[in-house]
Amino acid sequence: MEQQEWTQVVGAATKAPSIHNTQPWRFTATADQLDLYVDPGRALPVLDPTGRQQVISCGVAVEFAVVALAAAGWLTEVELLPDAGDGDHLATLRLIGPIEATALDRELAAAIDHRHTVRDPFQPRDLPAQLLDRLQAEAGAFGAWFKPVTRSEEEVATVFLIDRAEEMEQGDPAYLAELQSWLRTDPAAVDGVPVEAVPSGDPHQRPSNWTIRDFVVGTRPHAASGPAHDPDAPPPEVERPTVVLMGTDGDDRYDWLQAGRALGRVLLLATSAGIAASSLTQALDWPATRARLRTRLSLVGYPQMLLRMGYPQEGAPVAASGRRPVDEVLAPASDG
Ligand SMILES: Cc1cc2nc3c(=O)[nH]c(=O)nc-3n(C[C@H](O)[C@H](O)[C@H](O)COP(=O)(O)O)c2cc1C
Repeated sequence: MEQQEWTQVVGAATKAPSIHNTQPWRFTATADQLDLYVDPGRALPVLDPTGRQQVISCGVAVEFAVVALAAAGWLTEVELLPDAGDGDHLATLRLIGPIEATALDRELAAAIDHRHTVRDPFQPRDLPAQLLDRLQAEAGAFGAWFKPVTRSEEEVATVFLIDRAEEMEQGDPAYLAELQSWLRTDPAAVDGVPVEAVPSGDPHQRPSNWTIRDFVVGTRPHAASGPAHDPDAPPPEVERPTVVLMGTDGDDRYDWLQAGRALGRVLLLATSAGIAASSLTQALDWPATRARLRTRLSLVGYPQMLLRMGYPQEGAPVAASGRRPVDEVLAPASDG
């Protein structure tokens, strides 16, 4: 494959969601092979000291590349952690041979461009059970589990632990400094989370019991300066997102990559069904709340991702977040 075609594939891979939009990856390409490395220079040492969420992000990028290659008519073999001597070398994708792209391959590849994290409240509408079964099966193909949080005691425990973790994070100056350093006010920014992509109101005032990560704490205008509240207005409809826990039996780099690949597949299938998602990973950032989630929900294995899913409000604008140009992340493989 020519470098120009790799540019398109890597362009698709880099549309992957990543924690704080850090885009912690770099790629090299030869004629028949693409390699992905985690970029340790884009780490989040406070939020993610083990690099778990960065490796998950890279796993999504691997799967987006596989999807883009399939739509371009290439069957790919993926080897995870191909180099025992280099832990940053996360994946090798080898072109096995030409295939006829299926309608599903093309649909999923088209979804790569349409998927965005949607943090605004969703419509109060349930997701089809059949679709949830399908997503569960897709995640299972990567050895990952996909568990909608449906029982009310599970929901109460999960909401509580997210709130607890969010509170701990908002009280941690090092966490806040790191978060601030990835928040972007320039709409042309090529990385980080744009302020337009995060709701400007207080996350605790949203018509939802799920607390989204507060990216703008400390910079939000005082409540008194906001729009006047009409006491006669009907209360806003409370969203009823489907909240899903994804996890793996083990908890090492291989499991994180597989969780990321499963997440990538789940997000693209959901997008092509008109469903949006946002991650709610605060409770998984902290070992204590992550461990309590395991015990409170009697989970077998390790939670890797908490996803809030639903139908976005019709016509609501969605702010896309920036991406670094491909030539910043893709290099030809050096000889030898
Ligand atoms: C592992 C992981 C964890 C994430 N955690 C959160 C989170 O806790 N809260 C949130 O609002 N977004 C979260 N995100 C979403 C990223 O902020 C988002 O993907 C990134 O800003 C790029 O935006 P996009 O998804 O619209 O392309 C997470 C994404 C990943 C991959």
